[in-house]
Amino acid sequence: MLVLGIESSCDESGVALYDTEKGLLAHELYSQIELHAEYGGVVPELASRDHIRKITPLIKDILASQQLSLKDLDGIGYTAGPGLIGALLVGASIGRSLAWGLNIPAVAVHHMEGHLLAPMLEDEQPELPFVALLVSGGHTMLVEVKAIGDYQILGESLDDAAGEAFDKTAKMLDLGYPGGPILAALAEEGEAGIYKFPRPMVDRPGLDFSFSGLKTFTLNTWTKSTQTPQDKANIARAFQDAVVDTLFIKCRRALEQTGCQNLVIAGGVGANKALRAKLATLNASVSFPRMEFCTDNGAMIAYAGAMRLKAGQLEAAVIMPRPRWSLEELAEVV
Ligand code: KG4
Ligand code: ZN
Repeated sequence: MLVLGIESSCDESGVALYDTEKGLLAHELYSQIELHAEYGGVVPELASRDHIRKITPLIKDILASQQLSLKDLDGIGYTAGPGLIGALLVGASIGRSLAWGLNIPAVAVHHMEGHLLAPMLEDEQPELPFVALLVSGGHTMLVEVKAIGDYQILGESLDDAAGEAFDKTAKMLDLGYPGGPILAALAEEGEAGIYKFPRPMVDRPGLDFSFSGLKTFTLNTWTKSTQTPQDKANIARAFQDAVVDTLFIKCRRALEQTGCQNLVIAGGVGANKALRAKLATLNASVSFPRMEFCTDNGAMIAYAGAMRLKAGQLEAAVIMPRPRWSLEELAEVV
């Protein structure tokens, strides 16, 4: 079964072709980073308009790259939420209409399910059941995954997501957009242990997170410092170490609590090298998607869509994006 995946929940237009027999055939991504850079963050209306411009040519291009045509498609998976409503509407409308015109099934894919299944695109797939740490720009959560579609949220951020904390802290330090990777690169030039930052909520039981206090702590530390470039790097390092340590402690706790041996990391912050290195030291089997599949992409949506379509999960032909959508509402794939 050949499935086209379409991702348009935020600032990346992604498409991919996933074959349930042969695996991932191809994926293409167009990032809107340059478009939003001058505004210091994603402008939703500009994002929607750019998805309209890019998705159809991307679909034509990816099919041509595999010497395939629309007629070869057996199904379509498109991101229906969570995300920016206008951006979601574009991918959902294109996906649904294309499926209608081709008389093939289409399925609304949950963006975070896409992220947490992204490690399944690798040759060495994680074994079920696993605990997933989802760390993106909009979400930070620990999820117990017993089967595809059977998700229990063990804990989540009570305020900023980890990626959001990276982005906002980077903005406060005048590092530019997109903040997360820039702050992470600066942190690598910083010296560890110069500043002592808190590890929020680790002394309390439970698996929830809170990152907004760290952001303020970082700004106060910067304001009080002598503000040399090295101070900035050291502060970036202290911030990153605090986030990484906090995520590490909560992952260890989630594995203990569930008795699970397998941990999967997914979402944009999963591209953070310090986080990857620290989590690899856990006494568990830890899986990461390749770097390009940590951040938003069409491949993970094609995969999640293919799993659901293969299981015969058909839906009525309605275009209904869901800017808010809990992972726990999804049906199990059997
Ligand atoms: O999963 P994603 O691409 O989009 C959402 O669904 O949100 O995640 C984007 C987030 C942004 O907040 C970005 O700053 C962060 O992931 N990010 C990073 C790194 N690369 C991306 N944060 C820390 N270190 C990185 N290397
Ligand atoms: Zn994402």
